[in-house]
Amino acid sequence: MAPALLLGTALLLAALAAVAYFVFASFVFGAGYQPTPRRAVLEMLRLAAVRPSDVVYDLGAGTGAIVFRAARIYGARVVGVEVEPIRFLILRLRRASGRAGDRIELRWGNLFRLHFGRATVVTAFLWPGAMARLRPKLEAELPAGARVVSHCHSVPGWTPAAYDPATDVYLYRWPDAAAPPSDGERRDKG
Ligand SMILES: C[S@@+](CC[C@H](N)C(=O)[O-])C[C@H]1O[C@@H](n2cnc3c(N)ncnc32)[C@H](O)[C@@H]1O
Repeated sequence: MAPALLLGTALLLAALAAVAYFVFASFVFGAGYQPTPRRAVLEMLRLAAVRPSDVVYDLGAGTGAIVFRAARIYGARVVGVEVEPIRFLILRLRRASGRAGDRIELRWGNLFRLHFGRATVVTAFLWPGAMARLRPKLEAELPAGARVVSHCHSVPGWTPAAYDPATDVYLYRWPDAAAPPSDGERRDKG
């Protein structure tokens, strides 16, 4: 093979490996990387009725699609936790180069090791297995009155207070979401 072709092939393979690492490596922790679309982020924050008095925990903060909008548009305090180091660095750079940095706390690590006791709103775009693992942790740690909004995947076994099919966003209110269905609801479902 000609040296130029060899070099080109090696560069292409290295680029593919880098993209595969960036998107998929964090899968073992609970989700790969895919930013929540802008429309879905705005719907999540709207459905959760985020206010400046809220503390929003974004579980798996990625590059900040939710974190920066919650702090800069809605004025909330935000805790973003992210396990993948390059994305965590991007989050830190974005926080340093824009407004509302004092309202944004960033944690590098595994969201399953973070205590959710201060959260009044939880946002998530994680894969189904992680949502199932998250449920008992939410139930053990969330304060009453907290809202949970999830893009794409539901919290298994919980009843949503609202669902927006256009953006695939679920809203849950804790602890109502985990309450057994009332007699009326049971009859409705037959
Ligand atoms: C689908 S992306 C969503 C990113 C961001 N929340 C957004 O809406 O744009 C999921 C993110 O969760 C992160 N993640 C997955 N498992 C995690 C874990 N156990 N702890 C912390 N972050 C995690 C991934 O690295 C990835 O950046």
